[in-house]
Amino acid sequence: MRSGKPLLFALALIGALAIVAGIGSTAFFFGGFFNVAADHPDPTIVNWALVQVRKASIVRHATTRPPAGLLDNAAAVQAGARAYATIGCVYCHGEPGVESATFSEGLNPPPDLRKVVNQLTPEELFWVIKHGIKMTAMPSFGSDRPPVRNNTIWSIVAYLRKLSTVSDANFKAWNKTPIGSNWVSGCGPGRASGCGPGRE
Ligand code: HEC
Repeated sequence: MRSGKPLLFALALIGALAIVAGIGSTAFFFGGFFNVAADHPDPTIVNWALVQVRKASIVRHATTRPPAGLLDNAAAVQAGARAYATIGCVYCHGEPGVESATFSEGLNPPPDLRKVVNQLTPEELFWVIKHGIKMTAMPSFGSDRPPVRNNTIWSIVAYLRKLSTVSDANFKAWNKTPIGSNWVSGCGPGRASGCGPGRE
Protein backbone atom coordinates (compact mmCIF):
# COMPACT_ATOMS: atom_id res chain seq x y z
CA MET A 1 0.00 0.00 0.00
CA ARG A 2 3.05 2.30 0.10
CA SER A 3 2.34 3.49 -3.42
CA GLY A 4 -1.01 4.91 -2.25
CA LYS A 5 0.60 7.36 0.18
CA PRO A 6 1.73 10.06 -2.26
CA LEU A 7 -1.74 10.04 -3.74
CA LEU A 8 -3.35 10.48 -0.33
CA PHE A 9 -0.91 13.24 0.49
CA ALA A 10 -1.67 15.03 -2.80
CA LEU A 11 -5.40 14.77 -2.15
CA ALA A 12 -5.00 16.11 1.38
CA LEU A 13 -2.92 18.99 0.03
CA ILE A 14 -5.53 19.83 -2.60
CA GLY A 15 -8.23 19.76 0.10
CA ALA A 16 -6.22 22.02 2.38
CA LEU A 17 -5.52 24.47 -0.43
CA ALA A 18 -9.22 24.54 -1.35
CA ILE A 19 -10.10 25.37 2.26
CA VAL A 20 -7.48 28.13 2.40
CA ALA A 21 -8.72 29.53 -0.93
CA GLY A 22 -12.30 29.42 0.34
CA ILE A 23 -11.44 31.27 3.54
CA GLY A 24 -9.29 33.77 1.61
CA SER A 25 -11.96 34.61 -0.93
CA THR A 26 -14.64 34.84 1.77
CA ALA A 27 -12.48 37.32 3.65
CA PHE A 28 -11.75 39.20 0.41
CA PHE A 29 -15.37 39.55 -0.73
CA PHE A 30 -17.21 39.79 2.61
CA GLY A 31 -14.46 41.86 4.19
CA GLY A 32 -15.16 44.65 1.70
CA PHE A 33 -11.88 44.40 -0.22
CA PHE A 34 -13.56 43.87 -3.61
CA ASN A 35 -14.12 47.31 -5.15
CA VAL A 36 -17.67 47.72 -6.53
CA ALA A 37 -17.09 51.35 -7.64
CA ALA A 38 -18.38 51.95 -11.19
CA ASP A 39 -15.33 54.12 -11.89
CA HIS A 40 -12.98 51.30 -10.92
CA PRO A 41 -12.31 49.31 -14.14
CA ASP A 42 -12.61 45.52 -13.98
CA PRO A 43 -9.45 43.51 -14.68
CA THR A 44 -9.36 42.56 -18.39
CA ILE A 45 -10.07 38.90 -17.70
CA VAL A 46 -13.10 39.71 -15.53
CA ASN A 47 -14.41 42.09 -18.18
CA TRP A 48 -13.90 39.48 -20.89
CA ALA A 49 -15.68 36.83 -18.83
CA LEU A 50 -18.63 39.13 -18.08
CA VAL A 51 -19.09 39.96 -21.77
CA GLN A 52 -18.98 36.26 -22.75
CA VAL A 53 -21.47 35.34 -20.02
CA ARG A 54 -23.78 38.16 -21.10
CA LYS A 55 -23.63 37.21 -24.79
CA ALA A 56 -24.20 33.50 -24.13
CA SER A 57 -27.11 34.20 -21.81
CA ILE A 58 -28.81 36.58 -24.24
CA VAL A 59 -28.37 34.14 -27.15
CA ARG A 60 -29.87 31.28 -25.11
CA HIS A 61 -32.84 33.23 -23.75
CA ALA A 62 -33.84 35.35 -26.73
CA THR A 63 -36.41 33.10 -28.40
CA THR A 64 -39.47 35.35 -28.86
CA ARG A 65 -40.04 36.03 -32.56
CA PRO A 66 -41.07 39.49 -33.87
CA PRO A 67 -44.66 39.99 -35.08
CA ALA A 68 -44.77 39.49 -38.86
CA GLY A 69 -44.03 42.60 -40.91
CA LEU A 70 -43.49 44.87 -37.91
CA LEU A 71 -39.77 45.49 -38.23
CA ASP A 72 -40.08 47.17 -41.62
CA ASN A 73 -43.27 49.05 -40.87
CA ALA A 74 -42.64 52.83 -41.03
CA ALA A 75 -45.32 53.62 -38.44
CA ALA A 76 -43.75 51.12 -36.03
CA VAL A 77 -40.33 52.72 -36.52
CA GLN A 78 -41.77 56.14 -35.66
CA ALA A 79 -43.69 54.80 -32.67
CA GLY A 80 -40.47 53.14 -31.54
CA ALA A 81 -38.55 56.42 -31.81
CA ARG A 82 -41.22 58.10 -29.71
CA ALA A 83 -41.19 55.36 -27.07
CA TYR A 84 -37.39 55.42 -27.03
CA ALA A 85 -37.46 59.11 -26.10
CA THR A 86 -40.37 59.01 -23.66
CA ILE A 87 -39.50 55.96 -21.57
CA GLY A 88 -35.97 57.10 -20.91
CA CYS A 89 -33.52 55.20 -23.16
CA VAL A 90 -32.32 58.56 -24.37
CA TYR A 91 -30.82 59.51 -21.01
CA CYS A 92 -28.33 56.68 -21.05
CA HIS A 93 -27.98 55.95 -24.77
CA GLY A 94 -28.43 59.38 -26.38
CA GLU A 95 -30.24 59.87 -29.67
CA PRO A 96 -29.89 61.32 -33.18
CA GLY A 97 -29.33 64.96 -32.38
CA VAL A 98 -29.60 64.47 -28.65
CA GLU A 99 -26.79 64.28 -26.20
CA SER A 100 -27.16 61.60 -23.56
CA ALA A 101 -27.32 62.88 -20.00
CA THR A 102 -23.85 63.57 -18.64
CA PHE A 103 -24.25 60.82 -16.03
CA SER A 104 -24.11 58.29 -18.89
CA GLU A 105 -20.38 59.05 -19.09
CA GLY A 106 -20.04 57.25 -15.77
CA LEU A 107 -21.86 54.11 -16.93
CA ASN A 108 -19.61 51.14 -17.05
CA PRO A 109 -19.42 50.38 -19.93
CA PRO A 110 -20.92 53.42 -21.73
CA PRO A 111 -23.42 51.75 -24.08
CA ASP A 112 -23.06 52.72 -27.75
CA LEU A 113 -26.19 51.43 -29.48
CA ARG A 114 -24.91 52.25 -32.97
CA LYS A 115 -22.39 49.43 -32.58
CA VAL A 116 -24.68 47.05 -30.74
CA VAL A 117 -27.65 47.07 -33.12
CA ASN A 118 -25.65 45.40 -35.84
CA GLN A 119 -24.39 42.71 -33.50
CA LEU A 120 -27.68 41.63 -31.94
CA THR A 121 -30.62 39.94 -33.67
CA PRO A 122 -34.11 41.49 -33.30
CA GLU A 123 -34.96 38.68 -30.86
CA GLU A 124 -31.90 39.56 -28.76
CA LEU A 125 -32.66 43.30 -28.77
CA PHE A 126 -36.23 42.56 -27.67
CA TRP A 127 -35.05 40.32 -24.84
CA VAL A 128 -32.49 42.84 -23.56
CA ILE A 129 -35.03 45.68 -23.49
CA LYS A 130 -37.72 43.56 -21.85
CA HIS A 131 -35.54 41.90 -19.22
CA GLY A 132 -32.57 44.24 -18.72
CA ILE A 133 -29.06 43.05 -17.86
CA LYS A 134 -28.13 42.03 -14.34
CA MET A 135 -25.35 43.92 -12.58
CA THR A 136 -25.34 46.71 -15.16
CA ALA A 137 -27.38 49.91 -15.40
CA MET A 138 -29.56 48.41 -18.17
CA PRO A 139 -33.08 48.27 -16.68
CA SER A 140 -35.83 45.75 -17.43
CA PHE A 141 -38.61 47.66 -19.16
CA GLY A 142 -40.90 44.66 -18.81
CA SER A 143 -40.73 45.36 -15.06
CA ASP A 144 -41.78 49.01 -15.36
CA ARG A 145 -45.07 49.90 -13.70
CA PRO A 146 -47.06 49.57 -15.80
CA PRO A 147 -44.78 47.28 -17.86
CA VAL A 148 -43.79 48.49 -21.32
CA ARG A 149 -45.94 46.35 -23.64
CA ASN A 150 -44.38 43.80 -25.96
CA ASN A 151 -45.63 45.64 -29.05
CA THR A 152 -44.00 48.85 -27.86
CA ILE A 153 -40.74 46.99 -27.25
CA TRP A 154 -40.93 45.51 -30.77
CA SER A 155 -41.45 49.00 -32.19
CA ILE A 156 -38.32 50.16 -30.33
CA VAL A 157 -36.48 47.23 -31.90
CA ALA A 158 -37.79 48.31 -35.32
CA TYR A 159 -36.55 51.83 -34.64
CA LEU A 160 -33.12 50.68 -33.39
CA ARG A 161 -32.61 48.68 -36.58
CA LYS A 162 -33.19 51.83 -38.62
CA LEU A 163 -31.19 53.99 -36.23
CA SER A 164 -28.38 54.87 -38.60
CA THR A 165 -30.81 56.13 -41.26
CA VAL A 166 -33.05 58.27 -39.04
CA SER A 167 -32.27 61.96 -39.46
CA ASP A 168 -32.20 64.34 -36.51
CA ALA A 169 -35.11 66.26 -38.03
CA ASN A 170 -37.27 63.17 -38.39
CA PHE A 171 -36.48 62.04 -34.90
CA LYS A 172 -37.47 65.44 -33.54
CA ALA A 173 -40.62 65.53 -35.63
CA TRP A 174 -41.71 62.10 -34.43
CA ASN A 175 -41.32 63.04 -30.79
CA LYS A 176 -44.03 65.08 -29.22
CA THR A 177 -42.19 65.12 -25.91
CA PRO A 178 -39.65 67.92 -25.63
CA ILE A 179 -36.28 66.54 -24.67
CA GLY A 180 -35.26 70.04 -23.71
CA SER A 181 -31.70 71.05 -23.14
CA ASN A 182 -30.38 67.71 -24.26
CA TRP A 183 -30.87 68.66 -27.91
CA VAL A 184 -27.52 69.63 -29.36
CA SER A 185 -27.23 71.44 -32.67
CA GLY A 186 -23.96 69.98 -33.93
CA CYS A 187 -25.12 66.36 -33.84
CA GLY A 188 -26.31 64.40 -36.85
CA PRO A 189 -25.19 61.64 -39.18
CA GLY A 190 -21.40 61.55 -38.99
CA ARG A 191 -21.88 63.25 -35.64
CA ALA A 192 -19.15 64.48 -33.41
CA SER A 193 -18.24 62.60 -30.27
CA GLY A 194 -20.43 63.52 -27.33
CA CYS A 195 -23.54 63.14 -29.47
CA GLY A 196 -25.93 60.23 -29.06
CA PRO A 197 -26.74 57.48 -29.31
CA GLY A 198 -24.11 56.47 -26.83
CA ARG A 199 -20.79 58.18 -26.81
CA GLU A 200 -17.44 57.21 -28.18
C1 HEC B 1 -30.03 53.85 -16.70
C2 HEC B 1 -29.34 53.76 -17.95
C3 HEC B 1 -29.97 52.99 -19.08
C4 HEC B 1 -31.23 53.15 -19.60
C5 HEC B 1 -32.34 54.08 -19.13
C6 HEC B 1 -31.31 52.25 -20.72
N1 HEC B 1 -30.14 51.57 -20.87
FE1 HEC B 1 -29.73 50.18 -22.30
N2 HEC B 1 -27.91 49.82 -21.43
C7 HEC B 1 -27.41 50.49 -20.35
C8 HEC B 1 -26.09 49.94 -20.03
C9 HEC B 1 -25.16 50.40 -18.92
C10 HEC B 1 -25.84 48.91 -20.96
C11 HEC B 1 -24.60 48.01 -21.08
C12 HEC B 1 -24.85 46.70 -20.38
C13 HEC B 1 -23.71 45.72 -20.56
O1 HEC B 1 -22.65 46.09 -21.02
O2 HEC B 1 -23.90 44.55 -20.26
C14 HEC B 1 -27.01 48.88 -21.85
C15 HEC B 1 -27.15 48.00 -22.90
C16 HEC B 1 -28.14 48.07 -23.83
C17 HEC B 1 -28.20 47.26 -25.03
C18 HEC B 1 -27.12 46.31 -25.51
C19 HEC B 1 -27.00 44.99 -24.86
C20 HEC B 1 -25.80 44.20 -25.38
O3 HEC B 1 -25.89 42.99 -25.33
O4 HEC B 1 -24.80 44.76 -25.84
C21 HEC B 1 -29.34 47.62 -25.70
C22 HEC B 1 -29.84 47.07 -27.02
C23 HEC B 1 -30.00 48.64 -24.90
N3 HEC B 1 -29.26 48.88 -23.77
C24 HEC B 1 -31.17 49.27 -25.28
C25 HEC B 1 -31.87 50.16 -24.44
C26 HEC B 1 -33.18 50.68 -24.76
C27 HEC B 1 -33.93 50.46 -26.06
C28 HEC B 1 -33.56 51.45 -23.68
C29 HEC B 1 -34.88 52.13 -23.46
C30 HEC B 1 -36.07 51.31 -23.63
C31 HEC B 1 -32.45 51.42 -22.72
N4 HEC B 1 -31.47 50.62 -23.22
C32 HEC B 1 -32.42 52.12 -21.54
C33 HEC B 1 -28.01 51.54 -19.68
C34 HEC B 1 -29.30 51.98 -19.88
